[in-house]
Amino acid sequence: MEPHASSTTPTAWTRKHLLGLEDLTREEIVAILDTADSFAEISQRSRKKVPALQGRIVFNLFFENSTRTRTSFSLAAKRLSADTQDFTASSSSLSKGETFIDTARNIEAMGADLMVVRHATPGAPHLLAQHVNCSIINAGDGAHEHPTQGLLDLMTIRRAKGKIDGLTVALVGDISHSRVARSNIWGLTKLGARVILCGPPTLVPRSMERLGCEVAYHLDEVLPHCDVVNVLRIQFERQAKALFPSVSEYSQLYGMTQARVLKGKDNLLVLAPGPINRGVELTPEVADGPNSAILDQVTNGLAVRMAVLYLLSGKMDSKATGGDSSTERDA
Ligand code: CP
Repeated sequence: MEPHASSTTPTAWTRKHLLGLEDLTREEIVAILDTADSFAEISQRSRKKVPALQGRIVFNLFFENSTRTRTSFSLAAKRLSADTQDFTASSSSLSKGETFIDTARNIEAMGADLMVVRHATPGAPHLLAQHVNCSIINAGDGAHEHPTQGLLDLMTIRRAKGKIDGLTVALVGDISHSRVARSNIWGLTKLGARVILCGPPTLVPRSMERLGCEVAYHLDEVLPHCDVVNVLRIQFERQAKALFPSVSEYSQLYGMTQARVLKGKDNLLVLAPGPINRGVELTPEVADGPNSAILDQVTNGLAVRMAVLYLLSGKMDSKATGGDSSTERDA
């Protein structure tokens, strides 16, 4: 199987883990997107399964709930012929006092080649990468990063617009609690997009400008500049106290309505990582309308996760541990 349609080759990939987009170079991000495009083509064929990860074991370790990410990783691993196993934290021996690291080391002792980890604590996947020998993929760590969501958002924009360089993308909503926002910021800025963060001041700290983006508080002023709007969920579960007066006031000021879609550039692309709060961050009319790419994002997520698993599979036996710094590359 040779999934690459572009000049990027699998041998260009040197990393054992995918912990965040902050660590990746522009070239590495493009390599994943090119590989994902090839897997998207394979997914259109009648025979969708390829033997790339035959004999490998992929464990999903989710310490937070998930619909899209866990299912998508499971399906991606199956399409690559890996054996997959879900670990359910709530029914595990964590309740008897077993530590996070001991749990992971026991799972590794069962032969895991790769662990897909979601945890409420920022840095949890990075910690595991220092204590186990198998590959680690960050499937969301607190408000820090969600790299495969960032990648599938990039893929969706690139396929819809034909490019990312030069586009203006607004990330709207609860930026300060959003791991999706951070992965989008790293990925979009590395690929040359202008990124505007927009929401209430309590959810969009001015200090985030240091990440290479602009900060704005009036969505209606931002929209005429936008090619893409990525509408982020209000993360009520991560807010210790109310950070805006009411949900209805938030919706009036920042909710994507059809009238607001028309304020954007022609063919404004509307993304939302899901789960969506219909009527809060966007109206059902927008969520289900012609500008929405919400379900394309989910479809592309499968191809992105196949690409990441495929690229990491070449490095699963490497002895490198810890983060993904260049010192760990063996190229
Ligand atoms: N977008 C996303 O990560 O969705 P899940 O929480 O359902 O995985």
